[in-house]
Amino acid sequence: PVIILLGPPGAGKGTQARMLQERHGFVQLSTGDLLRAAVAASTEAGRRAKAVMDAGGLVSDDIVISILRDRLIEPDCAGGVILDGFPRTTVQAEALDELLARSGQQINAAISLEVDDAAMVERITGRFTCAKCGEGYHERFKPTAQPGVCDTCGGTDMKRRADDTAETVVDRLAAYRAQTAPLVSYYETAGALSRVAAMGEIDEVASRLNSLVARAT
Ligand code: AP5
Ligand code: ZN
Repeated sequence: PVIILLGPPGAGKGTQARMLQERHGFVQLSTGDLLRAAVAASTEAGRRAKAVMDAGGLVSDDIVISILRDRLIEPDCAGGVILDGFPRTTVQAEALDELLARSGQQINAAISLEVDDAAMVERITGRFTCAKCGEGYHERFKPTAQPGVCDTCGGTDMKRRADDTAETVVDRLAAYRAQTAPLVSYYETAGALSRVAAMGEIDEVASRLNSLVARAT
């Protein structure tokens, strides 16, 4: 199965993709995470992507498509994937259709997570992540049980993303509106779109998604 999570920055794509991965066994594929790993490893793609990511723009289609393609052919993806943050442009969506067609696969569901603008900024600016296991948290909405200690792995190295500032969020949102929002109608036309309200508690959103994914796969 192939599930796509669409939605603006802070909609909860990463949070929900991790929960779906645990529950349904599909692999979460986040192009944001793959790009941040490339930046950290200082690969050629990472060096080219860094400035664009820091400024809140979209990394070029050729870089993103090639990173995604390389990851998608790894054996652990054979049982199903949740695409978190990909595709983000019409060119990427068409490239994905082509990749899947070649391997006889198809998109089970493209899910648009719908949130208010004010919620996005609040979610993004309060976010932090465990460096050791990748678990995501929020100062207000999902704090750790003990300050500074990861509930999942006990790690104590919590980090914030360089692009999680109130200023950069504005540019990331603009990029979403201009280049990614058109994909909602792209998948609507293809008959694959579902809209899910992503306001409310994390667990409420998760249960909406669980039933949808169970029906679609
Ligand atoms: P990426 O890493 O994909 O960032 P994004 O799309 O901006 O999304 P976020 O990770 O910020 O938000 P999310 O929806 O995952 O929210 P989360 O679950 O963490 O991309 C980063 C950059 O990489 C891009 O700007 C671009 O430069 C580049 N890039 C990536 N993919 C690309 C592509 N395909 N093409 C081109 N460029 C690409 O939740 C946010 C916070 O809110 C968390 O703290 C969480 O705990 C909290 N939260 C979640 N749900 C709720 C809830 N229901 N109630 C309260 N709090 C909640
Ligand atoms: Zn951890």
